[in-house]
Amino acid sequence: MVKRSTNKITRILAIETSCDETAIASIEAPRGARSFRVLSNIVLSQVAMHAEWGGVVPNLAKREHQKALVPLLLQALKQSWLFNSKRKNKNVKLQFKIQKSLPAILERESELLKQLQEKIIPLPKPPIDLIAITQGPGLEPALWVGVNFARALSVVWDIPLIGINHMEGHIVSALIEPKRISNVKVKMSNLNLKSVVYPALALLVSGGHTELVFIKKPLHHQIIGETRDDAAGEAFDKVARILGLGYPGGPVISSEANLETADSLGCPVPKLPRPMIHSKDFDFSFSGLKTAVLYLVRDLEKQGADIKKLRPAICKEFQDAVVDVLVAKTIRAAKQYKVKTILLGGGVAANKELRKRLEKETDDILPRVTLHLPQSNITGDNALMIAAVAIFRRKYAKKTIWKTMKPNANMRLC
Ligand code: KG4
Ligand code: ZN
Repeated sequence: MVKRSTNKITRILAIETSCDETAIASIEAPRGARSFRVLSNIVLSQVAMHAEWGGVVPNLAKREHQKALVPLLLQALKQSWLFNSKRKNKNVKLQFKIQKSLPAILERESELLKQLQEKIIPLPKPPIDLIAITQGPGLEPALWVGVNFARALSVVWDIPLIGINHMEGHIVSALIEPKRISNVKVKMSNLNLKSVVYPALALLVSGGHTELVFIKKPLHHQIIGETRDDAAGEAFDKVARILGLGYPGGPVISSEANLETADSLGCPVPKLPRPMIHSKDFDFSFSGLKTAVLYLVRDLEKQGADIKKLRPAICKEFQDAVVDVLVAKTIRAAKQYKVKTILLGGGVAANKELRKRLEKETDDILPRVTLHLPQSNITGDNALMIAAVAIFRRKYAKKTIWKTMKPNANMRLC
């Protein structure tokens, strides 16, 4: 059984609902240390449901988050043994506050309110010290569910709440590694946050964002480049749709690209553009590249080509084009800003070609720069990365924030 946390340890419950994953994690973080223990880490993906529509449908995502949050919270509490607390909530004033505030907080999430009243409020208060919630950026309806749920829990358990930037979560995910004792990896539940030599640069590539972020010192972010239209992950998703490969596009395009040499030998496809690769700024643009794939497929079809046979070669050329641009701009920004560390984050960070090329070019061109890549199992959206950010930001958590907290769908790193 887990004992009550002492003032030397903070127990954090993190919740993530910014897109199509409902995720809850709980961790135990000793004060001042860079290591922490994972008590639970659950991700429920809605991908299969959205795949039927060819992409994420915000209101469906909202509905699914509402259904999933209470069962996932119960599962997380059970897994982490945070359930076994004997403490009961006998505070009458607090009970009154709960009865009064909850219906107002969850006014638009009646299903969640019902589940919370039936399944969470009767439970003894678990020994959790603070709640971390993804406040943005993301899909507004999806963010609202998580934020209101976190606000309600903050009232019910009378504990502080903190809003976390999802993109900062992707940055910090590059720092999470299994803890080592004398060079031997210990259990996966014991993790460590790698220390960073500043200044640093983060390349963030996800379904909604493509950003280069200059980090002069801890917690100080400056976006120095971003996409002017589609995000890198979005381009993978749209090109997969053009090629009839389903959703999400990233994993399926990269595995098709791997078939290239075996299957489509002798079927070369024309070279695709590398948009903005030589522009002096650090911005990106992937919409034209997607359109170039669309026209290429149309032309090939007109010529009577077998697209299925050519698909691996098209996927490889498209993936190479995206990777060329991302890597070239990252290396140039790292040089210009004289950074000592490069970090990679976001769903597209799962792409093996991107990881390989970034490693090679950092080694070849900037041998003194350290590159940190996220472990492949935490490149996608998860709540562990939200909890990890909260370790750094825990002093900003407040008990009263539930009164005013709102999601910010366009939240920017700063
Ligand atoms: O960070 P993430 O899980 O969700 C957002 O915050 O957007 O990123 C999802 C994106 C999707 O567009 C998906 O196609 C892409 O990450 N992705 C990949 C790969 N795995 C996921 N893109 C390229 N290669 C992959 N292996
Ligand atoms: Zn994400």
